[in-house]
Amino acid sequence: MTNHTAGTAYAVHQIARPTGFPTAADFAYVEQPVPAPVPGTALVENLQLSVDPYHRGMMDGGEGGFALHAPLEGRAVGRVLASLDPGLAEGDLVFHRQGWRTHALVTAGVDGTRKLRGHAGVPLSAYLSVLGGTGLTAYAALTRVARLREGEDLFVSAAAGGVGVATAHIARLLGARRIIGSAGSAAKVRRLTGDLGFDAAFDYHDGPVAEQLAAAAPDGIDVYVDNVGGDHLEGAIGALREFGRIAWVGAISMYNTDRAPAAPRNLFEVVHKSLRLEGVLVSHHTDLQEELEDFLVPHLRSGSVGVDATVVQGFDRTVEAFVGMLHGQNTGKMLVEVTG
Ligand SMILES: NC(=O)c1ccc[n+]([C@@H]2O[C@H](COP(=O)([O-])OP(=O)(O)OC[C@H]3O[C@@H](n4cnc5c(N)ncnc54)[C@H](OP(=O)(O)O)[C@@H]3O)[C@@H](O)[C@H]2O)c1
Repeated sequence: MTNHTAGTAYAVHQIARPTGFPTAADFAYVEQPVPAPVPGTALVENLQLSVDPYHRGMMDGGEGGFALHAPLEGRAVGRVLASLDPGLAEGDLVFHRQGWRTHALVTAGVDGTRKLRGHAGVPLSAYLSVLGGTGLTAYAALTRVARLREGEDLFVSAAAGGVGVATAHIARLLGARRIIGSAGSAAKVRRLTGDLGFDAAFDYHDGPVAEQLAAAAPDGIDVYVDNVGGDHLEGAIGALREFGRIAWVGAISMYNTDRAPAAPRNLFEVVHKSLRLEGVLVSHHTDLQEELEDFLVPHLRSGSVGVDATVVQGFDRTVEAFVGMLHGQNTGKMLVEVTG
């Protein structure tokens, strides 16, 4: 790209529809003057950006998808440089959804834009990871959908990713007994059972998920938080005990293929075991945001819960961070530090 120049804003545009995994050629970094705030808006300099699996689906276009040759949408945190919005003042730190760009015009209360509560001792990256949509997804999955109870056993897939790690932290605080995770490399499995505190973990490349899960949880599981779909979902249905619950969060094994989603061949076990399977869409649970912050902030301050993120330095590497995340290059939430 280019040297960043004062007075110049940069944005990532999608310029082609990817087939399978996206590549750098599907995107362009586009320059424009830094916009001036108009009445009712504030100019924000983005500090950190989130790149997320759901962006991949939006890149296919269609209803609700990304238009070509226009800035993309994404979660971001930034600082107000100038404001004509009575709800925001210069210097405020804000969360908003105009990511994939260096500067944005935002309005408090519109499209999720909010001034951050700014908890002392909590790093900014927390608001795009464990206190952001990622943590909120995990919290809603466990407390509202699966209703995890103390002493229950949990399996989570894509366990070393943002939602996966947040799920494990929150489940531990809720009193889960055994926490089992799957991930895509031996190094990630070591992290899971090491500093991330999982009781057991396996690499899904090492053999059928159902067999590896049965070995890791010989007595079964009570709750499955599904980030992956396909064979993971089928394996978990097999391992769940009677009255078990599945909080279905995502199906990343399918996002970069044009195959139809794989249906679990053992779906009828849902009946035999009286299982409950329910989808989780974080936008239906935004009312839990303050509750999540009140629940987690003391643990973030004490250090008993960490902010687990892979932070890629520099706006010019936003596309690289996004594609890398789809290929599993992150541990914890994948973020971009804009001015890194
Ligand atoms: N429903 C909602 O509202 C909501 C909100 C947030 C996220 N989600 C979903 O939650 C899941 C995790 O999202 P995240 O933001 O936390 O991303 P993430 O887990 O931090 O990153 C994606 C991870 O997926 C794994 N992966 C990629 N291809 C895979 C495959 N074929 N099979 C198994 N794992 C694969 C990679 O790790 P490995 O190295 O382990 O393969 C990669 O690190 C996604 O499915 C996402 O769509 C849903």
